[in-house]
Amino acid sequence: MNILILGSGGREHALAWKMRQSPLTGELYVAPGNAGTSQVATNLELDPMDFASVASSIRAKNIELVVVGPEVPLVAGIIEYLNEHVPGVKTIGPEASGARLEGSKSFSKSFMQRHNIPTAGYQEFTHEGLVSGEEYLRQHALPIVLKADGLAAGKGVVICADRAQAVTEFRAMLDGKFGDAGSKVVVEEFLEGLEFSVFVLTDGSDYKILPIAKDYKRIGEGDTGLNTGGMGSVSPVSFVDDVLMKKVEDRIIKPTIAGIEAENLKYRGFIFFGLINVKGDPYVIEYNCRMGDPETQSVMPRLKSDLVELCLATCDGTLAGQTISKEERAVASVVLVSGGYPGAYEKGKVISGLGKEME
Ligand code: AMP
Ligand code: GLY
Repeated sequence: MNILILGSGGREHALAWKMRQSPLTGELYVAPGNAGTSQVATNLELDPMDFASVASSIRAKNIELVVVGPEVPLVAGIIEYLNEHVPGVKTIGPEASGARLEGSKSFSKSFMQRHNIPTAGYQEFTHEGLVSGEEYLRQHALPIVLKADGLAAGKGVVICADRAQAVTEFRAMLDGKFGDAGSKVVVEEFLEGLEFSVFVLTDGSDYKILPIAKDYKRIGEGDTGLNTGGMGSVSPVSFVDDVLMKKVEDRIIKPTIAGIEAENLKYRGFIFFGLINVKGDPYVIEYNCRMGDPETQSVMPRLKSDLVELCLATCDGTLAGQTISKEERAVASVVLVSGGYPGAYEKGKVISGLGKEME
């Protein structure tokens, strides 16, 4: 069958690389893709946010399965658009109702409360509650975590070491620093521990756990310096053992899937649980309605099962009958960047030496 992956990152390259290996894959397209995806698939010059053009390409190329890589089109409702305008096409990703788990921090926090899923304590405020919010901040334990409610390209979370900074940042968010995304602000308790990423595929009632991973966001050696879009990832994660994973499954994954079903969120796709290990107990830092980047680059090489088959079972609601087999060996993915990143940096440099064996 012909397959289309939407997105342009390393994540989409890893998904395309994996899907290319399936005997079920016919033509494989990535839109808009990148230099890496062009080696395993055909890139299409298409903007994933231009739903009408995506739908006409699906018709023109006889595409039967669409995998949506990034969150922005999901939150904007691409899945329901495609299901309405190209009926019969199978899609991986939640409808907007399910994508709110990532698209609104306020929604995801209240969802976790409703379903008794461990997460940091919080309060939320809009501009109307500015004064009471400031009072709340003045008595809050440090550090204080502030989160813009909506999507803010990964920049909407600020961890404040002191209360004065928290008040300034809080006002700036409510005054539109992140546009509409900050019209509501979640003020959250700080959790201390090591973070890790758990991925599942769900058909809305059953789920399968994919290999777990951890990403590294800071630029410097030894996990120091400024945050970036991700400098690399590893799978598996050394500090996550079977005991911790059992807690993750019982306390977090199962109630999340049950909550999705009970609230009738339309969800057929990946859920990325951003978790933190607080003294042996897992808490949810965030939900994402997609795979992670750069985690996918470490997860896919460890997945032995056929990803296309898993996606089809997800769409058909038959995931319960699938099994996940994993490569035991570990994978590390490393991001190469131009000097200066994440500040100003030179563009257009060529990376050479790819494909050489590590010594
Ligand atoms: P998010 O956009 O929700 O993933 O937050 C970005 C990053 O902020 C996370 O990956 C964590 O490193 C950090 N963070 C978010 N919430 C908390 C919290 N409650 N306690 C500690 N760190 C947090
Ligand atoms: N690696 C974090 C993310 O994809 O959001």
